[in-house]
Order: sequence, then C-alpha cells, then structure tokens
Amino acid sequence: MNYRNILFKGEYILRKNFINDASIDAENLLSISLNKTREDILLNLETNLNQNEIKSYISLINKRKKKEPISLITGKRYFWNSEFTINKHVLTPRFETELLVEEILKIFNKYTNFSILDIGVGSGCILISLLKERKLWRGTGIDISSLALKNAKINAKIQHIDNRIKFINSDIDKFYGNKYDLIVSNPPYISKIGFNNLDLGVKNFEPKKALYGGIDGLKIIEKVIKKSKIILKNNGLLALEIGKGQSNKVINSLKNNGFYVSKIVLDYQKIKRCVFARKINEKF
Ligand SMILES: C[S@@+](CC[C@H](N)C(=O)[O-])C[C@H]1O[C@@H](n2cnc3c(N)ncnc32)[C@H](O)[C@@H]1O
Repeated sequence: MNYRNILFKGEYILRKNFINDASIDAENLLSISLNKTREDILLNLETNLNQNEIKSYISLINKRKKKEPISLITGKRYFWNSEFTINKHVLTPRFETELLVEEILKIFNKYTNFSILDIGVGSGCILISLLKERKLWRGTGIDISSLALKNAKINAKIQHIDNRIKFINSDIDKFYGNKYDLIVSNPPYISKIGFNNLDLGVKNFEPKKALYGGIDGLKIIEKVIKKSKIILKNNGLLALEIGKGQSNKVINSLKNNGFYVSKIVLDYQKIKRCVFARKINEKF
C-alpha cells in the first residue's frame, strides 16, 4: 500500500468517526508515524509502506478515531517559544494561555529580578516560558497533582532552567510560601454545565482536576485570589486566566480582597480571558 492509499484509508476511518479535519489529521499522523515531514509525504505519494509502518499508522488512526487529541498521541505541544512534553496528567497548553505570558513580558523588562509563583503549574508551560525569557527570575510552581509536577520537572530539565525553579506538591489552600513579586495562575475554571458539555476529546482525555472549577467554575479562582492576598508583595501583580462570562465576578472578588484591576486582555474570540491586578499597598 502506498502513501496515497493509506492516507485515503486513514481519512476515511476518521471521517466515519466524525473527526473534524480528518484529512489534515490523517496526514499529520502519517508524518508522525513515519517520522517524515508532511511535505515529504505529499511529494512522494507513490512510495510504498511496509507492514510494520502500516500497522503503526493504523494504531495512531485508531487512537484518533476515539477523539484522543493529536498532542496527546504525540506527547508534544508547542507553547510560546518551546516544545513541551505532555501526557494525560496535564492540561495540554492552550494558545490563549500564551496571552498571559505575552502580557507579563510586556509589563516587566529583562532587568527585573523577581520571585514568581505559578499556581496550578501543570505541564509548566507558563512558568518555564517566563523563566526562559527572564534570566534573572526564579520560580516556584505548585500543583495539587504530583503526576502533573513530574511532567513539569521533565520540561524544566529539557529547557535547562531546573536550577531556577522549584516544584511543590500542594493544594493552594495548604500552601504557605514566601512573598512573591508576581503570581500567575491558569486555574481550573470550567463550570459543572460547561464540563458536562465539553468536547469528548477534552472531557475523556484531559485531567478533570485541570478543568473543573466547581458548580460555577469559580471555586479555585477564589482560592487563588484569597491566597494571593496573603503571599503577594505589596504592589505585586496577580495574573489570572479566567473563563467566558467570569470577568465581573472575578473583578469583584479582586476588589473585595484588596486588589486594583490594572488590565483585562481579550482572547482571539474577544472573550475577556486574562485579568491583571495589583495588590494595593496595605500601609495606605
Ligand atoms: C488549567 S490547568 C493549568 C495548567 C498550566 N498552568 C497551563 O496553563 O497549561 C490547572 C492546574 O491546576 C491544578 N490544580 C487544580 N486544583 C488545584 C488546587 N486546589 N491547588 C493547586 N493546584 C490545583 C491542576 O492539577 C492543573 O494542573
């Protein structure tokens, strides 16, 4: 069987199982399974595959037909400037989360010497990306999931920043750290209804702990705000990613906890996605 025919077969199986972008996924999976670029494949459609190659390609197609995300099949995802290793214990880094990184880098120049905390560090994508860009910063990443932290540690090592980063396995409720200049968090913020309606590719393959934020989705965000009030330095910045429709409640909670909201950033769908707030100096 040649590349043309196996692609046709792969696409047919995916289409029959209602996978959007069946043709692109079929091509990507062939490129992953043969370890060749898509261009290499599309320019050599008459090349034949051996039996082992066919078997390994069909096994990837069978995973994808059950909606397993391509990033989990490959165990890799690109975020900001680096490729991250991921697995089923961490949230696959999302494009909109890059907005948090982008905005933080705009606010703080490379001469700052900061201690930063990432609450719910997951794969480590936010904290590691920031530390790679800001060589003087030191970071702490906490997560309730020890398996997520194992993954984050691997990424910190691959990116050669493990000497400036510390990981702690803790519920945010039980964490008592030093005072930080900057706290960043992309907490789980999906509501009960939102969780029940999630795409099966997300619901069945990504960790519930990383997604579900209680009945209204605000449970962990609230905890992050309350804890930040204690462990953020005066005038320190809290940078949060939030869900659709949560901005008013989050802004109110920030105000009630002694924060001044300095900026809100919209995502590519014009949803209020990131909130930046300064802790008001307690002495005044
Ligand atoms: C939405 S994921 C974010 C992962 C990563 N920071 C990112 O942006 O891709 C939320 C993370 O928070 C962690 N988490 C959930 N509840 C927590 C809690 N109470 N305390 C600490 N971490 C928690 C989850 O295990 C998960 O890794």
